[in-house]
Parts: sequence; C-alpha cells; structure tokens
Amino acid sequence: MAAKIEDIGACVFDAYGTLFDVASAAAHCKDALGDKAEPLAALWRNRQLEYTWLRSLMQEYVEFWQVTGDGLDYAMAALGIEDAALRERLMNIYMRLDAYPEVKGVLTTLKGGGLKTAILSNGSPKMLNSAVENAAIDGVLDDSFSVDSIGVYKPHPSVYQMAVDGLGVEAGRICFMSSNAWDAAAAANFGFRVVWVNRFGQPQERIPGQPEHEITTLIDLPALLGL
Ligand code: 2OP
Repeated sequence: MAAKIEDIGACVFDAYGTLFDVASAAAHCKDALGDKAEPLAALWRNRQLEYTWLRSLMQEYVEFWQVTGDGLDYAMAALGIEDAALRERLMNIYMRLDAYPEVKGVLTTLKGGGLKTAILSNGSPKMLNSAVENAAIDGVLDDSFSVDSIGVYKPHPSVYQMAVDGLGVEAGRICFMSSNAWDAAAAANFGFRVVWVNRFGQPQERIPGQPEHEITTLIDLPALLGL
C-alpha cells in the first residue's frame, strides 16, 4: 500500500493513553471500587493532567509520580473513598499499566520497516522503564524521553524538541502518535507529522495544531507509513 506519510525517520509515541491504558489501574481494582471504578479513573486522569498544566504554568515542577499520586488523592477524596491500602494498590498497578493489545505487534512491524521508535512522555524515567518492561516492548523501542530531564510538562514546545535533539531527526521527519487530542494538536503545532490515535471517539480540541491523520487504534499506523 502506498505510504500516506512519507519520508519518516522516526516514530515517536506518547505513553499514557496511547501505549498504556491509564484506566486499567482502577479497572483492576473493581472488586474494591465497584461502580466508583470508572468515575475514579476519569477524575484521577483529569486531575493528573490538570496538575501537570498548572504546575508548568506555576513553574512548580515535580515528577509525574508525585502528580499521579496527588491526582489519585483528589479523586479518592472527591468520591469519599478513604483507604490507604487501596491507594497503594492503585499506585502499584500504575507502575505496570496494561499496554493496549496491538502495541507490541505494531512496534515490531515499525522496527522491521527500519524506523527508529521512541517514547516521549510526561512519565518519569522510573515509571516509563517499569511500564515498558511490564509490556515487554523494550526490545522494539530505541529510546525513551521523559520531561523529567527538562522540568516542564507537555505541551510546552521544549518537550517535543527533546525528541528532535535526542533522535537527531528533524521535526518534519518525526511521526508522532498520541491518543490525547491536546498532545496531538500541540505536537502538530510544533512541527511533527501527527497521527491522532482517537481511542475514545472524542472531538478535536479547539487549540492550535492539526493532526494529519486520525485512527482509532495503532493497528492502522503501519499502513499509513507504507509498511
Ligand atoms: C504522557 O505524556 C500525556 O500523560 C501523557 O504520557
């Protein structure tokens, strides 16, 4: 199949929501959470991201593990859940989130096609290493870039610049995938070739930057690249 995205030197992936299922931590604790599992997962993720944006604006960076715990604490308090053991269980699972089922196969195909592959994420190095090891995808990833090395969160442009500098590939030859519409828009605005992995059927965000393609899972990515 002819490539719709040509002259790509590297495929760079957002981690949480794109490679790893952020709702799977609460889902694995449904025995204890019952019908609060889904609202907890949603509130936890929203506050986690909102805290990254607020802390970047406040110039009060702390690593993503702390922000993830703070977001969970807010969500548990908002839902009236007081359970230190459950909190620890949820955070432990977050270190080893389920990868989406197509991830390893797609990364293997991309590597077989001669492409560099990397993660670019808000996650701390320890979190990313743990999630990558748990998903057994370390053998099909060339690199992993964490915002922890620059102390500011997405969507600050310096985050996307890390992948350019780290891979030695110019922005226009980097194909970037994210399920987070705001991340996809910001990466396109920065200059990446962007494929939005719209796993949750969401509308596009009304912010600068327009992804070139929209897919629902990563299964459709290799064909876009002519692989
Ligand atoms: C990530 O950076 C945006 O949380 C998402 O992995």
